[in-house]
Amino acid sequence: MNRQYSRTDDLVRQFDAVLRTLVPRAAQASRPSPATPEVRDEDMGDAERRHAEGLMRINHTGEVCAQALYQGQGLTAKLPEIRHQMEEAAQEEIDHLAWCEDRITELGGHTSRLNPLFYAASFGLGALAGAVGDRVSLGFVAATEEQVGRHLDAHMDALPPGDHRSRAVLRQMAIDEAHHAEQALAAGGVRFPAPVKAGMTLASRVMTRSVYKL
Ligand SMILES: [Fe+2]
Ligand SMILES: [Fe+2]
Repeated sequence: MNRQYSRTDDLVRQFDAVLRTLVPRAAQASRPSPATPEVRDEDMGDAERRHAEGLMRINHTGEVCAQALYQGQGLTAKLPEIRHQMEEAAQEEIDHLAWCEDRITELGGHTSRLNPLFYAASFGLGALAGAVGDRVSLGFVAATEEQVGRHLDAHMDALPPGDHRSRAVLRQMAIDEAHHAEQALAAGGVRFPAPVKAGMTLASRVMTRSVYKL
């Protein structure tokens, strides 16, 4: 009986996580956004604002993917500690999700309409990695977080010079992602070989190209 209840609980929690990730304004950050009221932008032109919005939309979708990945992995992870760690990391990614969404709203934009698609694909990948084994799954987290870190660095350079508020958000995200990558390796994650990483880079390019506008 207990087992049945906990399975239902799991399903409800999963469904709740899907909604929190995909429904606009549903993500609740547990830490305040690094774009505090004291952080002020300099004047930006229309084209600059649109560019910043496109970049922040990419970062937001990246966080949607991170949510889905962690949730998929949490579903199939074998060791309870690993499952727990995945859930904890997913909670931190919720902050990133909410911060990016807030910033997109400030810039007068919208989050990507393709998010449900990327959520589904990432959830599947995460569940698959988790099913293969915890060490592969953790390695996948490490490789993904390293890649996200590189994206964030590139975006901090590419943002309009006057966009200090987006940059403040990305700076804190980069710190958190580096920590996630370290944790995953310390917990026993395998280091992915270069060709696998190259494949991941290619896949992420598909996402970044489509989401910048949509
Ligand atoms: Fe994140
Ligand atoms: Fe992360």
